[in-house]
Amino acid sequence: LKVDWDADSAEKEGFDHFMLKEIYEQPTALRNTLKDKFEGDKVNLPDLNIDSEYLKGVNKIAIVACGTAWHAGLVGKHLFETLLRIPVEIDIASEFRYRNPLVDEKTLVIVVSQSGETADTLAAMRDSQKKGAKVLAVTNNKGSSIARESEFIFHTIAGPEIAVASTKAYTTQLMGFYLITLYFGQLLGKEMPKELYDGLKEIPVLADKVLQNTKDQLDKITAPFDGWDNSFFIGRGMDWYVSQEGSLKLKEISYIHAEAYAAGELKHGTLALIEQDIPVVAVATQQDIYDKTVSNIKEVKARGGYVIAVVQEGDEDITHSVDEVIKIPKVPSLLTPILSVIPLQLLSYKEAVKRGQDVDKPRNLAKSVTVE
Ligand code: G6P
Repeated sequence: LKVDWDADSAEKEGFDHFMLKEIYEQPTALRNTLKDKFEGDKVNLPDLNIDSEYLKGVNKIAIVACGTAWHAGLVGKHLFETLLRIPVEIDIASEFRYRNPLVDEKTLVIVVSQSGETADTLAAMRDSQKKGAKVLAVTNNKGSSIARESEFIFHTIAGPEIAVASTKAYTTQLMGFYLITLYFGQLLGKEMPKELYDGLKEIPVLADKVLQNTKDQLDKITAPFDGWDNSFFIGRGMDWYVSQEGSLKLKEISYIHAEAYAAGELKHGTLALIEQDIPVVAVATQQDIYDKTVSNIKEVKARGGYVIAVVQEGDEDITHSVDEVIKIPKVPSLLTPILSVIPLQLLSYKEAVKRGQDVDKPRNLAKSVTVE
């Protein structure tokens, strides 16, 4: 018997790399994470085991994570504060641990970890429990140390993620944060926006649409990176958090330095680095601050930057001011991160392949970091 494939490529199901396969699995992973979480028009998360009595006693949330999971946490903080008006701190686990954080029995600590085994995240969680806090783990690994030791679990159903650079774990972590926020809102008796419930149900289909739409644009949006070892990602609010994830992806696998900057902060230093044709990815999907971001984009253009903008369908103003436009479907501003990150994942992937890098196993990095 002669076969022209090996076990490794068979698992990739025809994709050249696990990362690409995992990027394309996102609609399914999101659908699976959403499955059975709605009861009629409301979110129901009985498996969380959190009751309204406990939640009403919580006066602060602390989100703790590393890497991509921390980027998901940034979106989580924004959601909790916007919709629940509960103060939220967010920290990188290796920072949180060593700064004697203000945590007590009224703090709900949320740890985010794909593997559930990251050493710093696990240690931060144990320290918080010693101080009396309860821990909610958002994890992709039900059998992990973090899952076993936490009081509450939200299980992301991304399935196994093999590529070191996280993709579907991130988008399902975001899905987790949306569901948890809406559920907490309900438990606290707060009115949650109906458009978010409707929008969330649409996300898997829209994620698929973004994958299809971006596919043909990849040559064009990676061309500006040719010959560059420096780049920028800018945005405000939700777009800034996604910019941070986009820049991490590019650094991890293509080894291009990518600085993510809050668009409004550019003129306080980073603008000095903008030179003729340097690639700048500008994420501008937030309707309430769209004009502000557009004016920052114009500042970058005026200094010669080559701007690739990610915007919502219908936002045509920008098209005349930038070099390339990537459009995502129109959704409420709070929901855009889950869609706007997808073109950034594809951009990094394509660029890394172009540069001949080891996409699934980038140098010096590990999938799960169990050392401190
Ligand atoms: C490593 C991985 C990242 C991941 C981070 C946190 O750095 O390469 O992709 O985001 O660890 O991992 P965790 O399993 O805790 O989410």
